Amino acid sequence: MRLLVTGGAGYIGSVVAAQLIEAGHEVTVLDDLSTGHEDAVPEGARFVRADIAEAGQALDGVDAVLHFAAKSLVGESVQQPERYWANNLGGTLALLDAMREHDVHRIVFSSTAATYGEPERTPIEETDPTRPTNPYGATKLAVDSALTAYAEQRGLGAVSLRYFNVAGAYGRYRERHAVETHLIPNVLKVATGERESVSVFGTDYPTPDGTCIRDYIHVADLARAHLLALDAVTPGRHEIYNLGNGTGFSVQEVIDVCREVTGHEIPAVVGERRPGDPAVLVASSAKIQRELGWKAERAALRDIVADAWGALSRK
Ligand code: UFG
Repeated sequence: MRLLVTGGAGYIGSVVAAQLIEAGHEVTVLDDLSTGHEDAVPEGARFVRADIAEAGQALDGVDAVLHFAAKSLVGESVQQPERYWANNLGGTLALLDAMREHDVHRIVFSSTAATYGEPERTPIEETDPTRPTNPYGATKLAVDSALTAYAEQRGLGAVSLRYFNVAGAYGRYRERHAVETHLIPNVLKVATGERESVSVFGTDYPTPDGTCIRDYIHVADLARAHLLALDAVTPGRHEIYNLGNGTGFSVQEVIDVCREVTGHEIPAVVGERRPGDPAVLVASSAKIQRELGWKAERAALRDIVADAWGALSRK
């Protein structure tokens, strides 16, 4: 297929673009490089440097869009909601308009666990209430609502994938954000000597060791789900799937695994809770397993951390 990957110079977008090319698809990456890196655009992809609001220039003859381009920092979204609403919702609505103008009727969308907010039960299923606790989650949920309406009224075919905690690396493609907020890359920065210690945001949560529990999924497994989703996109339907491993690990357990994998001591300093962090976020991925046949192949936290660490040592 001829595919447009928005945000394909970012962490997840570049891994998906690489897998699409390996599967024989023709890929154009559209990215404004506001947070992405041009050298992350996979070999074999055409690159267009532009904002999603200008996606029209890259839509001629395209069969489907995989849409990753977005602002994705929870804390920043609280401080600067306008940027998140304009970019994540406004930008996506412009993209959907441009798709209609160019007769492109299929989309796979990067949604997030942040659409659920503080969960009522664990593991979270797609039918559970969506009450985002920050603008980031709210903008992604708004796009999901728009996709449902466009599917019903305009015949759009859409699949939203709600990611839990994505980590690991795929070959040379790894996480490298200018502002790094995620746990695993921050812990590994201590092992590489870029940071002196890692902060543990709270040890008084109602969990066995008092630190927050999250569901870590390998970026390569996550990316594979996009290829399955692409095959499953059906005009007139919007499907939503959670994507996680179904197993939670605490912040303390993640740090311990990073110590084992890297052989470094990794000093940890206990800090305050980070506002807005739910105690436990674990996905039920039963729906995507049942309907699309997806299965995690590198589910072990050790493998996820080892791949992230391996990519760092190759950089
Ligand atoms: N944490 C630390 N120290 C750090 C970084 C994180 O203790 O230096 C803790 C956090 O408080 C949290 C856990 O590690 O308990 C994981 O934090 P991340 O920032 O790695 O990930 P989040 O669970 O906050 O965020 C993920 C996605 C977001 C998404 C969110 C849904 O990265 O995009 O899940 O709640 F919005």
